[in-house]
Amino acid sequence: MPRGYGGHHRRGRLLPLAAAAAALLLLALLVLLPAAPPAGAGGPASLLRAAVAAHPSPEAYGRPCADHLALSLRRLRAALSSLESGDVPAALHLASASLQCQYDCSHLLSLPAFRSHPLTSHFLDSLAPRTLTAVSKPSSSAAATAFPARIRPDATVCKPNSGAKPCGYSTVQAAVDAATNYTAGHFVIAVAAGTYQENVVIPYEKTNILVVGEGIGATVITASRSVGIDRLGTYETATVAVIGDGFRARDITFENNAGAGAHQAVAFRSDSDRSVLENVEFRGHQDTLNDYDKERMDKASVHWHRFKKTSGVCPTSARCNSL
Ligand SMILES: *[C@@H]1O[C@H](CO)[C@@H](O)[C@H](O)[C@H]1NC(C)=O
Repeated sequence: MPRGYGGHHRRGRLLPLAAAAAALLLLALLVLLPAAPPAGAGGPASLLRAAVAAHPSPEAYGRPCADHLALSLRRLRAALSSLESGDVPAALHLASASLQCQYDCSHLLSLPAFRSHPLTSHFLDSLAPRTLTAVSKPSSSAAATAFPARIRPDATVCKPNSGAKPCGYSTVQAAVDAATNYTAGHFVIAVAAGTYQENVVIPYEKTNILVVGEGIGATVITASRSVGIDRLGTYETATVAVIGDGFRARDITFENNAGAGAHQAVAFRSDSDRSVLENVEFRGHQDTLNDYDKERMDKASVHWHRFKKTSGVCPTSARCNSL
């Protein structure tokens, strides 16, 4: 039977070919699979990866927008590594902080939301219902352990010729600059009584800075930047601006003395996570604490203890009452 024979013969040749093709296909699948999205594509991790990929480049914007975006990207990447290591509450917390920073920039420039914005939101929504209780604010016991029982300063600050004991620095900023980058322990800056006229910035890399004064009204950091002067935005007017995580302050006054005639003038602004403020006074006239700072600081788990705000005008009365 030539046909039957021929058919059998072809099949005989085709079978090894088919087997080889199948093997190739299997090999291709094995090689390609790990690169493909993991099971649950569209799940939290891939949403977060997409948000990082879609995040605007900070370098494409001028300050202060670039600052907001740089911090946002850092928070978003940290959220992803927290998620990958299984720390879901930390991932939620960090992604939510990133969202605020993304908003700050688009709001500042009156831009529509960045593409990363809805992706970050979806990520939060994808996890929030199940874990809401897990991200409730940390207990106040965190504040109790925020300051070492006996404070040994790493740096001392005093006014020159003030009669105080000799000290290392005459400005708070110089002491901050002297701290090691990304310190995991504490870097304690003891600031002697006196009025320090300076703007202080604690940048991202200066983590776990503790600023300890000699009391409200005794140790005072004061400056007078306000909106409308030198084309500054509200964000840039802060006398003390903190970005580095783990910032803590005690027994000190932060003041913006731009006065009643000036526009918005912020005494204290915080983008710092895990901050503690204890027995701290904020003095100013308008927007003493940045407009939405209280909300943001709550979100970033700043602990507030025995602090007072001395201010002529409040941005919103409800917020002032809650302060
Ligand atoms: C600390 O970090 C800043 C910003 O990245 C960098 O400019 C500076 O050189 C660093 N300081 C040290 C001592 O590494």
